[in-house]
Amino acid sequence: MELCLDAEQAIRSASESALMEEIEAYWNDRAASFFADVAGEFADGSWKRWAAELMRLVPGFGTRQLRVLDVGCGPAFFSILAAHGVSDWVSLTRGNACDLPYGDGSFDLVVTRNLTWTLEDPARAYAEWLRVLAPQGRLVNFDANWYRYLVDGDAARVRPEEEAGYTSAPNCHASESQCARCEQIALELPMTRAERPAWDVAAMSAAGFRNVVADADCWRRVLPDAELDYYGGTAPTFSLVGEK
Ligand SMILES: C[S@@+](CC[C@H](N)C(=O)[O-])C[C@H]1O[C@@H](n2cnc3c(N)ncnc32)[C@H](O)[C@@H]1O
Repeated sequence: MELCLDAEQAIRSASESALMEEIEAYWNDRAASFFADVAGEFADGSWKRWAAELMRLVPGFGTRQLRVLDVGCGPAFFSILAAHGVSDWVSLTRGNACDLPYGDGSFDLVVTRNLTWTLEDPARAYAEWLRVLAPQGRLVNFDANWYRYLVDGDAARVRPEEEAGYTSAPNCHASESQCARCEQIALELPMTRAERPAWDVAAMSAAGFRNVVADADCWRRVLPDAELDYYGGTAPTFSLVGEK
């Protein structure tokens, strides 16, 4: 099987905003502790749940040649999954998830996790991800309402007591100052206030995706046992799938 995985990292350009510069600076600062978070997913074996979910959502994943784009890969979680038996070629590319350096129809699968919430213009991202998909290609997007508790009293009530968000979350290595900085950014991001995944279903359909399906129960299959209680009550992972 040949599987091409390309990874996107935010880049600065003259046209990008001060907020985007702050988002990039935050993730650069968070890189080492986020790497530790993802290393934990390999240590506790939960990567197998994610691999199984991808096989469930992507017909032929693991058994046929696919050109795969892992957008906003961070420590390259899905790239590493692919390297475990289904990939013989991985390439990392630095770029902007909303302005990809690829031609139309370049990929059979675009996969992304926990990226959409951190984008300034997620509708533009959905249009861009559709553009780079080949006909019949598929988007699989995993995300959660990570910072909804900042703006929604009901969500706030189900959060455990803590000073800055996620400092007490299982397998989270972010410092208190990183958590507080991320909350400041999240308050400026459109997805923090959106009704998700319903917003995404509408945005994906408007972008031109077919057969858009959201699964709000995804978290029950992919999260490790140690995280089910915490994130099930705060920011349960949902999946979104759409076809070109
Ligand atoms: C929460 S991490 C998720 C990383 C990885 N997808 C995972 O699940 O382990 C969010 C990632 O999105 C990246 N990111 C944020 N904005 C981006 C943008 N506009 N273009 C590309 N990557 C971006 C950050 O650098 C960071 O690595």
